[in-house]
Amino acid sequence: AAGTAPIGIDDIELATSHHVVRLDDFAEANGTDPAKFHLGLGQDEFSFPAPDEDVVTMAAAAAAPIIARNGTEGIRTLLFATESGIDQSKAAGMAVHSLLDLPSQMRVVEFKEACYSATAALQAAVGIVTRSPGQRVLVIASDVARYELDTPGEPTQGAGAVAMLVSADPKLLEIEPVSGLNSADVDDFWRPNDSTTAIVDGALSVTAYLDALTGAWTDLAAQSGPAMSEIDRVLYHQPFTKMAKKAQVHLAGLTGEDLDTEIVAGASGTGDGTGAGTSGADSAGPRDTGLATSTLYNRRLGNSYTASLYAGLCSLLDHDEDLAGRRIGFFSYGSGSVGEFFTARVVPGYEQHSRRQSVTDALDARVPLSIDAYRALHAAELSSTEDVSTPKVTAGPFRFAGVRDRARLYERA
Ligand code: HMG
Repeated sequence: AAGTAPIGIDDIELATSHHVVRLDDFAEANGTDPAKFHLGLGQDEFSFPAPDEDVVTMAAAAAAPIIARNGTEGIRTLLFATESGIDQSKAAGMAVHSLLDLPSQMRVVEFKEACYSATAALQAAVGIVTRSPGQRVLVIASDVARYELDTPGEPTQGAGAVAMLVSADPKLLEIEPVSGLNSADVDDFWRPNDSTTAIVDGALSVTAYLDALTGAWTDLAAQSGPAMSEIDRVLYHQPFTKMAKKAQVHLAGLTGEDLDTEIVAGASGTGDGTGAGTSGADSAGPRDTGLATSTLYNRRLGNSYTASLYAGLCSLLDHDEDLAGRRIGFFSYGSGSVGEFFTARVVPGYEQHSRRQSVTDALDARVPLSIDAYRALHAAELSSTEDVSTPKVTAGPFRFAGVRDRARLYERA
């Protein structure tokens, strides 16, 4: 009967772009101390798309292995979360639907609220499956984070997509019903319709994020959600991984709990970043809630906006061997702003579905850009007013082929 089976994430995949910019190269070109990026922001590299890549190609690359493994039966909904959409009207998911040969008997729609909307999509998917437990929902979060050249946001750019299959009796995570919510109209970060780069008040964005965490956590308690002592790991939206550390310090303050706040694995002696976080029951010192293990992929991806929190989930699932039955807290934040704190239980056997090898291979396979080449690509904005064919660059499975009659064309690479 509807409402009795656990519902959550049955399968998950992460994809990224063809290129990478190394922050060591970036620091050298800018005459900046590289420690500012590695320690100050907690970032080592950022993914950067080739001219024939965008949110659609990364999304299709993330979703393709999920469809290959699970088939399409019962998938009647595709929810595409992004804030770097390719059209004001048509959902980016339509191109994914076509590239993956998904059935016609589907609804396809795009969700937007900065980095938060993937969580809204996930919750909507849970709602659909609650009503129709035989259905499954494909949720895709895909973004390219772009700031103006020579601005403080520039080293926090990035690109990536996470695809998730939401179903009853999931193999990875059972999402729990209680959420803490917080919305506040604030101009901390936005992208006007006529701009390809985001506008950001960096200092305000950091405080707006932490205020949303306070609000969402307070509401979780008001909704009789779990206490901090009942949450084993915590994932945060990661615009840069040092922000997750700031959030962890903030949550420790809100809850009065002694939480490990080291983002570099092993720095506090509680973990080596490759094994389990300790649940902390019998170990002295701050409790390890997976901050170091959940930030490993994002240090190399950069900000992937809607996908970022779920890339953090992939990193945790792929590096923590002690998650079976444990409760994970998720803090999702989107500028503008919405914050949501929800929880999920990890299903025993999750470790049989590790992405560690494929994600590491994909990160290692990215082709580094010189800073000159990166700046040229950044500046080369493609207008939709003229027909154009893009050069074949990406080694990914799908490519953006160009524009014809103002419409974007995609193909299998
Ligand atoms: P900045 O100019 O790099 O700031 O901008 P900073 O000069 O204060 O330096 C950052 C940190 O590096 C500081 O540490 C410095 O001390 C440290 P902190 O005070 O933060 O602990 N530092 C060093 N450390 C070691 N060695 C050194 C060194 N030098 C300095 N040599 C800012 C930072 C975040 C403002 C900028 O990157 C930015 O504007 N980013 C974009 C906005 C952003 O990511 N905001 C995050 C919260 S909002 C959010 O998450 C939503 C978002 O994802 C969008 C959406 O929702 O769609 C962005």
